[in-house]
Amino acid sequence: DKGNYSHFMAKEIHEQPEVVGRTVAHYVDLATGTVRLPEEVAIDFAAIDRLAIAACGTAYYAGIIAKYWFEQLARLPVEIDVASEFRYREPPLTGRGLALFISQSGETADTLASLRYAKAAGWPALAVVNVATSTIARESDVVAPTLAGPEIGVASTKAFTCQLAVLLALAIHAGRARGVLSAQEEQELVDALVGVPSHMTKVLARETQVEQVARDLAKARDVLYLGRGLSYALALEGALKLKELSYIHAEGYAAGELKHGPIALIDEAMPVIVLAPRDKVFEKTVSNVQEVAARGGRIILIGDAHAAGEAGLAGETAVVMPEVHPAVVPLLYALPVQLLSYHTARVMGKDVDQPRNLAKSVTVE
Ligand code: M6R
Repeated sequence: DKGNYSHFMAKEIHEQPEVVGRTVAHYVDLATGTVRLPEEVAIDFAAIDRLAIAACGTAYYAGIIAKYWFEQLARLPVEIDVASEFRYREPPLTGRGLALFISQSGETADTLASLRYAKAAGWPALAVVNVATSTIARESDVVAPTLAGPEIGVASTKAFTCQLAVLLALAIHAGRARGVLSAQEEQELVDALVGVPSHMTKVLARETQVEQVARDLAKARDVLYLGRGLSYALALEGALKLKELSYIHAEGYAAGELKHGPIALIDEAMPVIVLAPRDKVFEKTVSNVQEVAARGGRIILIGDAHAAGEAGLAGETAVVMPEVHPAVVPLLYALPVQLLSYHTARVMGKDVDQPRNLAKSVTVE
């Protein structure tokens, strides 16, 4: 049932404040401002010295963001692969490690094969899954559920932000367990996580800003998405979503890679979408924007208005985002990224919920 929405994807995008709120509440103790993992999610992060993540598509991008979180907040070394590479590369899983698999459906063939590989190598397997009865959930040692509810649209939206909520809670927990985060730092991070749903509601209220950008984007042949740090994986996600739904050629790049190749593509015809939250790499992102501008590129900035204003980029800011704790930026910036692909595809008359050639769950390789 699509309710009042014309597509499942629109409904699922708008459900995010609610389902992310529900997922966060499952992993934190609101009264004390601490992470409190459900009893069945028993992991001793102090007893491991390596985390290997494998997943596909959008779940893989959630994994890249998780890598940054686990490394920064818990000083835990993390490797990440797309599952189709992990399973055949056969990485040596030695030492005290944990394997982490992320999947909405819990049935993705390559992710399941990677899980079986890790288990055969003797590593415990943790799965972040949305379908509790799925094969990946059944075969994992520990299951950390996302409480997104059924996701019908082929493009993953609410499952992604719920994955991020679970992964951030796990990384904060790991940071405490490993003696990296103080109680006060935990509290600040948990407060930021708990505050995400209400910020999401504010971002969704700015949908018309995104629609305006989409009308412009619908005319483009190629689109470049740029981001740094936590926003790098979101640039990849933005490009994937736009390709899937609108069939416009899009590429996501780490902004620092601009000069190493993609800058050659820049001209007046190619929109460059820049994710520019105020974080510790903001100044670097600004200098990338200036490089694009100097070559006549069309900049579409998604960012915090104050920071952009201070950097002289007020005129380029197409979607104004709230100022939030840098750690939760991916959960909020995912929304304009999703809405942009949704509205671009809709304006172009594409089948948003069922794009050509795609299956919701890829159960054969
Ligand atoms: O069910 P999974 O999370 O394992 O699926 C992984 C990918 O197939 C999935 O995220 C795919 O990339 C989506 N179409 C992205 O919107």
